[in-house]
Amino acid sequence: MTTTIIDANVTKRFGKKKVLEDVTLTLTNNEIFGLLGPSGSGKTTLVKILCGIDVPTEGHVSVFGKKMPDLELIKRIGYMAQADALYHELTAKENLVFFASISGVKRNKRAERIQQVMKLVDLESDLNTKVETFSGGMKRRLSLAIALLHEPDILVLDEPTVGIDPALRNKIWDTFEILKESGVLIVVTTHVMDEAERCSRLGMVRDGQLIAIGTPDEIKTKTEASTIEQAFLSYGG
Ligand SMILES: Nc1ncnc2c1ncn2[C@@H]1O[C@H](COP(=O)(O)OP(=O)(O)OP(=O)(O)O)[C@@H](O)[C@H]1O
Ligand SMILES: [Mg+2]
Repeated sequence: MTTTIIDANVTKRFGKKKVLEDVTLTLTNNEIFGLLGPSGSGKTTLVKILCGIDVPTEGHVSVFGKKMPDLELIKRIGYMAQADALYHELTAKENLVFFASISGVKRNKRAERIQQVMKLVDLESDLNTKVETFSGGMKRRLSLAIALLHEPDILVLDEPTVGIDPALRNKIWDTFEILKESGVLIVVTTHVMDEAERCSRLGMVRDGQLIAIGTPDEIKTKTEASTIEQAFLSYGG
Protein backbone atom coordinates (compact mmCIF):
# COMPACT_ATOMS: atom_id res chain seq x y z
CA MET A 1 0.00 0.00 0.00
CA THR A 2 1.26 3.44 -0.88
CA THR A 3 1.00 6.03 1.87
CA THR A 4 2.23 9.59 2.11
CA ILE A 5 5.18 9.91 4.42
CA ILE A 6 6.47 13.43 3.83
CA ASP A 7 4.33 16.33 2.76
CA ALA A 8 6.13 19.63 2.37
CA ASN A 9 5.88 23.11 0.98
CA VAL A 10 8.87 25.22 1.85
CA THR A 11 10.54 28.52 1.20
CA LYS A 12 13.88 29.22 2.85
CA ARG A 13 15.88 32.41 3.13
CA PHE A 14 19.31 32.96 4.58
CA GLY A 15 19.27 36.69 5.30
CA LYS A 16 17.97 38.32 2.16
CA LYS A 17 18.92 35.42 -0.05
CA LYS A 18 16.12 33.08 -1.08
CA VAL A 19 17.63 29.60 -1.22
CA LEU A 20 14.42 27.58 -1.65
CA GLU A 21 11.32 28.97 -3.30
CA ASP A 22 7.94 27.36 -2.85
CA VAL A 23 9.19 23.79 -3.13
CA THR A 24 6.26 21.38 -2.89
CA LEU A 25 6.86 17.66 -2.39
CA THR A 26 4.76 14.65 -1.49
CA LEU A 27 6.86 11.56 -0.86
CA THR A 28 5.55 8.08 -0.18
CA ASN A 29 6.79 4.83 1.29
CA ASN A 30 8.29 2.33 -1.14
CA GLU A 31 10.18 4.97 -3.06
CA ILE A 32 13.70 6.18 -3.61
CA PHE A 33 13.38 9.87 -4.30
CA GLY A 34 16.49 11.41 -5.85
CA LEU A 35 17.35 15.10 -5.81
CA LEU A 36 19.52 16.32 -8.64
CA GLY A 37 20.78 19.82 -9.16
CA PRO A 38 23.87 21.93 -9.64
CA SER A 39 26.12 22.77 -6.72
CA GLY A 40 24.49 25.45 -4.58
CA SER A 41 20.98 24.84 -5.97
CA GLY A 42 19.55 24.03 -2.52
CA LYS A 43 19.56 20.21 -2.22
CA THR A 44 21.24 20.05 1.19
CA THR A 45 19.08 22.87 2.53
CA LEU A 46 15.97 21.02 1.37
CA VAL A 47 16.86 17.63 2.85
CA LYS A 48 17.84 19.22 6.17
CA ILE A 49 14.41 20.85 6.35
CA LEU A 50 12.66 17.60 5.39
CA CYS A 51 14.22 15.77 8.30
CA GLY A 52 13.78 18.55 10.84
CA ILE A 53 17.39 19.64 11.23
CA ASP A 54 16.51 23.05 9.86
CA VAL A 55 13.20 24.89 9.59
CA PRO A 56 11.67 26.69 6.62
CA THR A 57 11.23 30.47 6.61
CA GLU A 58 7.74 29.94 5.21
CA GLY A 59 5.65 26.85 4.68
CA HIS A 60 5.42 23.53 6.45
CA VAL A 61 6.80 20.00 6.59
CA SER A 62 4.78 17.12 7.93
CA VAL A 63 6.09 13.61 8.40
CA PHE A 64 3.64 10.75 9.07
CA GLY A 65 1.00 13.48 9.37
CA LYS A 66 2.82 15.30 12.19
CA LYS A 67 4.35 18.74 11.93
CA MET A 68 8.14 18.86 11.90
CA PRO A 69 10.41 19.28 13.76
CA ASP A 70 9.24 16.60 16.20
CA LEU A 71 11.58 14.77 18.52
CA GLU A 72 9.70 11.46 18.32
CA LEU A 73 9.67 11.55 14.52
CA ILE A 74 13.36 12.32 14.33
CA LYS A 75 13.97 8.82 15.79
CA ARG A 76 12.27 7.31 12.75
CA ILE A 77 14.65 9.10 10.40
CA GLY A 78 18.19 8.11 9.50
CA TYR A 79 20.12 11.15 8.29
CA MET A 80 23.49 11.09 6.62
CA ALA A 81 24.91 14.57 6.25
CA GLN A 82 27.01 15.71 3.31
CA ALA A 83 29.90 16.38 5.72
CA ASP A 84 30.75 13.40 7.93
CA ALA A 85 29.95 13.92 11.60
CA LEU A 86 32.18 11.30 13.19
CA TYR A 87 34.38 11.22 16.27
CA HIS A 88 37.81 10.87 14.75
CA GLU A 89 39.63 9.99 17.94
CA LEU A 90 37.31 7.02 18.49
CA THR A 91 37.25 3.69 16.70
CA ALA A 92 34.50 2.83 14.22
CA LYS A 93 32.91 0.56 16.81
CA GLU A 94 32.99 3.23 19.50
CA ASN A 95 31.27 5.63 17.09
CA LEU A 96 28.63 3.02 16.29
CA VAL A 97 27.98 2.20 19.95
CA PHE A 98 27.59 5.89 20.74
CA PHE A 99 25.17 6.55 17.87
CA ALA A 100 23.26 3.33 18.61
CA SER A 101 22.67 4.53 22.16
CA ILE A 102 21.39 7.99 21.14
CA SER A 103 19.22 6.67 18.31
CA GLY A 104 17.46 4.22 20.60
CA VAL A 105 18.82 0.85 19.43
CA LYS A 106 18.03 -1.57 22.27
CA ARG A 107 21.10 -2.59 24.24
CA ASN A 108 20.68 -6.31 23.51
CA LYS A 109 20.39 -5.64 19.76
CA ARG A 110 23.37 -3.31 19.40
CA ALA A 111 26.14 -5.82 18.73
CA GLU A 112 24.08 -7.61 16.07
CA ARG A 113 23.00 -4.40 14.31
CA ILE A 114 26.58 -3.10 14.31
CA GLN A 115 27.77 -6.30 12.62
CA GLN A 116 24.95 -6.11 10.04
CA VAL A 117 25.49 -2.49 9.00
CA MET A 118 29.28 -2.80 8.94
CA LYS A 119 28.99 -5.88 6.71
CA LEU A 120 26.77 -3.94 4.39
CA VAL A 121 29.32 -1.15 3.92
CA ASP A 122 32.20 -3.63 3.81
CA LEU A 123 33.95 -2.32 6.90
CA GLU A 124 33.71 -5.39 9.14
CA SER A 125 37.46 -5.73 9.44
CA ASP A 126 37.87 -2.08 10.49
CA LEU A 127 35.63 -2.09 13.55
CA ASN A 128 38.48 -1.47 15.94
CA THR A 129 40.34 1.04 13.79
CA LYS A 130 40.40 4.69 14.78
CA VAL A 131 38.38 6.85 12.39
CA GLU A 132 41.26 9.34 12.07
CA THR A 133 43.08 6.76 9.93
CA PHE A 134 40.09 6.19 7.60
CA SER A 135 40.06 7.31 3.96
CA GLY A 136 37.31 9.65 2.75
CA GLY A 137 35.31 6.78 1.28
CA MET A 138 35.65 4.73 4.47
CA LYS A 139 34.28 7.66 6.50
CA ARG A 140 31.37 7.96 4.07
CA ARG A 141 30.66 4.25 4.49
CA LEU A 142 30.79 4.49 8.29
CA SER A 143 28.39 7.47 8.19
CA LEU A 144 26.02 5.41 6.08
CA ALA A 145 26.26 2.51 8.53
CA ILE A 146 25.34 4.91 11.34
CA ALA A 147 22.32 6.24 9.42
CA LEU A 148 21.07 2.67 8.98
CA LEU A 149 21.71 1.48 12.55
CA HIS A 150 18.28 2.08 14.10
CA GLU A 151 16.35 0.69 11.09
CA PRO A 152 14.63 4.00 10.31
CA ASP A 153 11.42 4.29 8.28
CA ILE A 154 12.91 7.22 6.39
CA LEU A 155 16.49 7.49 5.18
CA VAL A 156 17.74 10.90 4.15
CA LEU A 157 21.13 10.61 2.49
CA ASP A 158 23.08 13.61 1.27
CA GLU A 159 25.51 12.39 -1.40
CA PRO A 160 26.03 9.06 0.37
CA THR A 161 28.38 7.43 -2.11
CA VAL A 162 30.99 10.14 -2.71
CA GLY A 163 34.41 8.48 -2.74
CA ILE A 164 32.98 4.95 -2.86
CA ASP A 165 34.09 2.72 -5.73
CA PRO A 166 31.51 1.57 -8.33
CA ALA A 167 31.32 -2.07 -7.17
CA LEU A 168 30.54 -1.19 -3.57
CA ARG A 169 28.27 1.65 -4.71
CA ASN A 170 26.23 -0.88 -6.64
CA LYS A 171 26.01 -3.15 -3.63
CA ILE A 172 24.88 -0.23 -1.46
CA TRP A 173 22.20 0.68 -4.02
CA ASP A 174 21.02 -2.95 -4.04
CA THR A 175 20.46 -2.52 -0.30
CA PHE A 176 18.57 0.74 -0.87
CA GLU A 177 16.27 -1.16 -3.22
CA ILE A 178 15.67 -3.91 -0.66
CA LEU A 179 14.89 -1.27 1.99
CA LYS A 180 12.52 0.47 -0.42
CA GLU A 181 10.70 -2.81 -1.06
CA SER A 182 10.30 -3.23 2.69
CA GLY A 183 8.47 0.12 2.84
CA VAL A 184 11.27 2.56 3.67
CA LEU A 185 11.27 6.00 2.04
CA ILE A 186 14.73 6.97 0.85
CA VAL A 187 15.54 10.55 -0.06
CA VAL A 188 18.94 10.85 -1.67
CA THR A 189 20.88 13.69 -3.25
CA THR A 190 23.36 12.76 -5.92
CA HIS A 191 25.55 13.98 -8.73
CA VAL A 192 26.00 10.46 -10.04
CA MET A 193 23.87 9.78 -13.09
CA ASP A 194 23.72 5.99 -12.86
CA GLU A 195 22.38 6.45 -9.32
CA ALA A 196 19.74 8.84 -10.62
CA GLU A 197 18.62 6.11 -13.04
CA ARG A 198 17.99 3.79 -10.10
CA CYS A 199 15.66 6.23 -8.31
CA SER A 200 11.89 5.66 -8.37
CA ARG A 201 11.38 9.40 -8.93
CA LEU A 202 13.64 12.36 -9.40
CA GLY A 203 13.32 16.00 -8.50
CA MET A 204 15.44 18.47 -10.43
CA VAL A 205 16.42 21.51 -8.38
CA ARG A 206 17.77 24.70 -9.87
CA ASP A 207 18.26 28.01 -8.07
CA GLY A 208 16.10 26.83 -5.19
CA GLN A 209 13.17 25.78 -7.34
CA LEU A 210 11.90 22.32 -8.12
CA ILE A 211 11.81 22.62 -11.89
CA ALA A 212 10.89 19.03 -12.78
CA ILE A 213 9.66 15.95 -10.99
CA GLY A 214 8.92 12.47 -12.27
CA THR A 215 10.27 8.99 -12.89
CA PRO A 216 13.60 8.86 -14.72
CA ASP A 217 11.71 7.76 -17.84
CA GLU A 218 9.19 10.60 -17.57
CA ILE A 219 11.98 13.13 -17.19
CA LYS A 220 13.85 11.74 -20.18
CA THR A 221 10.69 11.72 -22.32
CA LYS A 222 9.81 15.28 -21.34
CA THR A 223 13.22 16.55 -22.40
CA GLU A 224 13.56 14.17 -25.36
CA ALA A 225 16.82 12.98 -23.83
CA SER A 226 18.17 9.47 -23.99
CA THR A 227 20.02 9.71 -20.68
CA ILE A 228 19.38 11.44 -17.34
CA GLU A 229 22.63 13.29 -17.85
CA GLN A 230 21.27 14.83 -21.07
CA ALA A 231 17.97 15.64 -19.38
CA PHE A 232 19.85 17.24 -16.50
CA LEU A 233 21.89 19.36 -18.90
CA SER A 234 18.81 20.37 -20.87
CA TYR A 235 17.37 21.72 -17.59
CA GLY A 236 20.51 23.81 -17.26
CA GLY A 237 22.20 21.45 -14.77
N1 LIG B 1 23.78 28.39 6.77
C1 LIG B 1 23.78 29.08 5.62
N2 LIG B 1 23.87 30.43 5.62
C2 LIG B 1 23.85 31.14 4.48
N3 LIG B 1 23.74 30.58 3.24
C3 LIG B 1 23.65 29.26 3.18
C4 LIG B 1 23.68 28.42 4.35
N4 LIG B 1 23.56 27.14 3.97
C5 LIG B 1 23.48 27.16 2.63
N5 LIG B 1 23.53 28.42 2.15
C6 LIG B 1 23.44 28.83 0.74
O1 LIG B 1 22.28 28.20 0.21
C7 LIG B 1 22.51 27.81 -1.14
C8 LIG B 1 22.17 26.35 -1.31
O2 LIG B 1 23.13 25.58 -0.60
P1 LIG B 1 23.02 24.00 -0.49
O3 LIG B 1 24.09 23.55 0.42
O4 LIG B 1 21.63 23.65 -0.12
O5 LIG B 1 23.30 23.56 -1.99
P2 LIG B 1 23.49 22.10 -2.61
O6 LIG B 1 22.54 21.98 -3.74
O7 LIG B 1 23.43 21.10 -1.53
O8 LIG B 1 24.97 22.18 -3.20
P3 LIG B 1 26.10 21.01 -3.37
O9 LIG B 1 25.70 20.19 -4.55
O10 LIG B 1 27.36 21.77 -3.60
O11 LIG B 1 26.12 20.23 -2.09
C9 LIG B 1 23.95 28.17 -1.47
O12 LIG B 1 23.95 29.41 -2.14
C10 LIG B 1 24.59 28.31 -0.10
O13 LIG B 1 25.64 29.23 -0.13
MG1 LIG C 1 24.73 19.74 -0.78
